[in-house]
Amino acid sequence: MRKPFVAGNWKMNKTSDQATLLAADMLPGLEAVKTVERVICPPFTSLMVLSGMLADSEVKLGAQNLHWEESGAYTGEISPAMVKEFCQFVILGHSERRAYFGDTDESVNKKVKAAFAHGLIPIVCVGETLDEYESGKTAEVVTRQVKNGLKEIESENAEKLVVAYEPIWAIGTGKAANPEGANAVIGGVVRQNLAELFGNDRAQKIRILYGGSVNGQNAASFFQQPEIDGGLVGGASLKAEDFVKIVESAT
Ligand code: 13P
Repeated sequence: MRKPFVAGNWKMNKTSDQATLLAADMLPGLEAVKTVERVICPPFTSLMVLSGMLADSEVKLGAQNLHWEESGAYTGEISPAMVKEFCQFVILGHSERRAYFGDTDESVNKKVKAAFAHGLIPIVCVGETLDEYESGKTAEVVTRQVKNGLKEIESENAEKLVVAYEPIWAIGTGKAANPEGANAVIGGVVRQNLAELFGNDRAQKIRILYGGSVNGQNAASFFQQPEIDGGLVGGASLKAEDFVKIVESAT
């Protein structure tokens, strides 16, 4: 019922020339996998050139952040309308932005609302630190992030949402979560909270991804889980062959 969804978060990697080469490398493989929604999220500086490349493609573009204001004196920021010129999606509340750039549940909530107001679909990231995981606080932390980050979202928009559960201890460490454990958090905490916010019918339509050291070898073990609808992929999305393999495992 939920169409599988795989997004590549390129983070702060690739100049626009390098991004063009990487996209050209992966495009034929990605194009072939029609049953999966495929999104690549390069840095802002490559969005324009890649949106030209992808004009006739089913592969969609996402940004990695935005500012909630429409325009004005916000040096260094990018508005929702600017993102919307090139993208259909936007990653919001990634743990790296929360850790290094001051994103909070409150600012994530403003960004989610601004994204929807401009017709962008947010990919909202949640997940606990290693300390929180080890002290058994995963459910509490993820509940807070979902409830506060997604509060007062209109119900009609809610079902378009994509949520990514990315345990911070699994990001870039090569130590992916256990697929059954991730499935339990996604079904029992993320989707449960979405149901409390938006009702069960809508919650059942929302795609929830797993992220954190997903690669060509382990992707299928995550995507086989009933509550996991796809992946948000960092490092492995920078290698055409690996990323195509991950997308293929989501069919
Ligand atoms: P890695 O796949 O490199 O662990 O990164 C995951 C991530 O943060 C995607 O947003």
